[in-house]
Amino acid sequence: MSNNIEGKVVVITGASSGLGEATARLLSEEGASVVLGARRIDRLKSLADELTANGGKALAVATDVTHHDQVKKLVDAAVQKFGRIDVMINNAGLMPHSPLERLKIDDWDRMIDVNIKGVLYGIAAALPYMKQQKAGHIINVSSVAGHKVTPNGAVYCATKHAVRALSEGLRVEVKPYNIRTTIISPGAVATELPDSVTEPDEAERIRKFYKEVAIPAESFARAVAFAISQPEDVDVNEILFRPTRQEL
Ligand SMILES: NC(=O)c1ccc[n+]([C@@H]2O[C@H](COP(=O)([O-])OP(=O)(O)OC[C@H]3O[C@@H](n4cnc5c(N)ncnc54)[C@H](OP(=O)(O)O)[C@@H]3O)[C@@H](O)[C@H]2O)c1
Repeated sequence: MSNNIEGKVVVITGASSGLGEATARLLSEEGASVVLGARRIDRLKSLADELTANGGKALAVATDVTHHDQVKKLVDAAVQKFGRIDVMINNAGLMPHSPLERLKIDDWDRMIDVNIKGVLYGIAAALPYMKQQKAGHIINVSSVAGHKVTPNGAVYCATKHAVRALSEGLRVEVKPYNIRTTIISPGAVATELPDSVTEPDEAERIRKFYKEVAIPAESFARAVAFAISQPEDVDVNEILFRPTRQEL
């Protein structure tokens, strides 16, 4: 029986580490062709080489999601190489928490540019192809922070709330084109995300929290695989999951 993943062409932003990398591995094992985007091309290339050596199909494309032309090039490369795009996973993101009063305006700008505009650019790049195909699936990565607002996380939470609002707006608009939309909202998952915190005290607090509660990145990859693997007439719109031991 088909897993409804095999043979699909899946573009993943932020595939050079963490959730994106784990997802690329699992979907490749399940028979998808994966197209990997992020800035660290060396990492992407070694992941693509590893997946290819294991019998998979993978392509690495250096991509900064804050530039819409680069995200378009990523998706265009997927279509040129594999003939279509079935799934777009807008996953790239960062989480430099800090109290608002510290006025970390550069961090605010980067979060807005990557976590919100990067997602929009992913939608812009994939949607024309999916409309034409009358099929496709757009998966946007939000967070528990898209459901709750925490001290020192105002801007990050705002970006992740925005991802959920954009995804719901997309969902209701793309019905005529037979496109599925999924929001995935993880709790603490062990990745390099805490390294994006620029304030030393906040970085230490978050590292300690992650050390205590975080679960492996495969937990996220399995949620993605679940959403994709449903029959085409089933649209899994949102998955919220946490480590069992996470209270927040
Ligand atoms: N881990 C968690 O606990 C957790 C919980 C909820 C939500 N999330 C969300 O999950 C997503 C993935 O994060 P992660 O946990 O896997 O963290 P991670 O290990 O730090 O991965 C972040 C990824 O985003 C990419 N990225 C950052 N800026 C980029 C840019 N300008 N252009 C292209 N790619 C960029 C990074 O690649 P390069 O540096 O190579 O560009 C990297 O591949 C994020 O949206 C995050 O907010 C994570």
